[in-house]
Amino acid sequence: MTDDKTQPPVETSTIWGGRFSTGPDKIMEAINASIDFDQRMYAQDISASMAHAKMLADKEIISAADADTILSGLETIRDEIERGDFKFSRVLEDIHMNIENRLSTLIGDAAGRLHTARSRNDQVATDFRLWVRDALDYLDGNMKDLQAALLQQAHTHSGSVMPGFTHMQTAQPVTLGHHLMAYVEMIGRDRGRAADCRARLNESPLGAAALAGTSFPIDREATASALGFCSPMANSMDAVSDRDFALEFLAFASILAVHLSRLAEEYVIWSSQQFAYVKLGDAYTTGSSIMPQKKNPDAAELIRGKAGRVIGALNALLIVLKGMPMTYGKDMQEDKEPCFEVADTLQLCLVAMAGMLTDTTFDVERMSTDAGKGFSTATDLADWLVRVLGLPFRRAHHVTGAIVKLAEDKGCGLEDLTVEDMRTVEAGITAEVFAVLGADNSVASRVSLGGTAPANVRQAVAAAHKRFLDDG
Ligand code: ARG
Repeated sequence: MTDDKTQPPVETSTIWGGRFSTGPDKIMEAINASIDFDQRMYAQDISASMAHAKMLADKEIISAADADTILSGLETIRDEIERGDFKFSRVLEDIHMNIENRLSTLIGDAAGRLHTARSRNDQVATDFRLWVRDALDYLDGNMKDLQAALLQQAHTHSGSVMPGFTHMQTAQPVTLGHHLMAYVEMIGRDRGRAADCRARLNESPLGAAALAGTSFPIDREATASALGFCSPMANSMDAVSDRDFALEFLAFASILAVHLSRLAEEYVIWSSQQFAYVKLGDAYTTGSSIMPQKKNPDAAELIRGKAGRVIGALNALLIVLKGMPMTYGKDMQEDKEPCFEVADTLQLCLVAMAGMLTDTTFDVERMSTDAGKGFSTATDLADWLVRVLGLPFRRAHHVTGAIVKLAEDKGCGLEDLTVEDMRTVEAGITAEVFAVLGADNSVASRVSLGGTAPANVRQAVAAAHKRFLDDG
């Protein structure tokens, strides 16, 4: 819309206003209109209308000439919107009626034939499925980029030793590469959930019309395949009334947001002075307005915090849909904003997380020193007692506990005890035991499938490249 001559202002909706003598109250308009947000689906709406118009002409429900006029009018509208020349009107409620109204200004009567055998109910369900499908596709790319950033650091640090934690207490030494690879797996499952959601949502509601189907001889297979859907939805009432695909999208998103918040939290912990495992680059931190020495991990904190919105969006839509009688109700207009917001939030978080990871320097010395603290190789000692002295594991656990107590009383590490010290607890112990007590030895010995040994991590990185990054 460029000026008032080409697109006159609308008082009442010319589209449904036949039985209305006055226009809606301003407040009604404000609560009813979705155009402020659903204009994001303009491209999907135009594609779906094009597929519908072509099908109507192929089935001789409208003339080929009318279909051609409709198609070129829709192309003009797409250009206008993309150039920023389209004036969206709240009086026209939503993206569907804004586009149809403009079409009628542009091409006249033929525009009125586009809505044959269609309702806004199947139209919005179709557009929204297409939009969520697109969002899943670009988020998959963002998740893949994050995996690539994780893999890069995991590769660099396949042999960097750090403490592994349970209960946030030092447990056993691990490699940093192994720790980061855990997130590669989590994000891999998130991508799997996104793919499952995409596969299930990829059926076409178009042609369900208002709720009951239509008496026109439409071809739903044709519109479905033109829009890249694998098939038409089987039941017209289900097609216009369920939004489980949006719930699945938000559920996948919530789990991903939880994963991102965990990694973000580790960054916050690791960048504290007490840990000092990572030095965040300047690009993903901020300073304090009062404390000149501060460098705060804001990006990580925000990623951690944004999980709240994402989970909130899932809850919001679950509550909107709960108890809704069949079929469409205007409540369903509340489905879009949570999904739009979540897609934007996650994209931002994924890109920021990948950037932050790439911009991070790990203090491997410090991590490695910490890895040996807290009697972290106690399990290695117990395993040695089983392997070399043939003790039952439960007995070995007990003996090791007593040796840990001895070291604790002496205020030293396990590796600082003498063999004589240890023999006071278990007479069979020899000096060979020291070979398993260092953190490096411990880590190198964890070669079981899925274990933390550097050799395993290098293999896991190579395998993950194939599983997650190579196309095809
Ligand atoms: N803006 C509406 C929505 O998002 C479009 C469908 C309107 N359908 C109706 N019967 N009023 O749900």
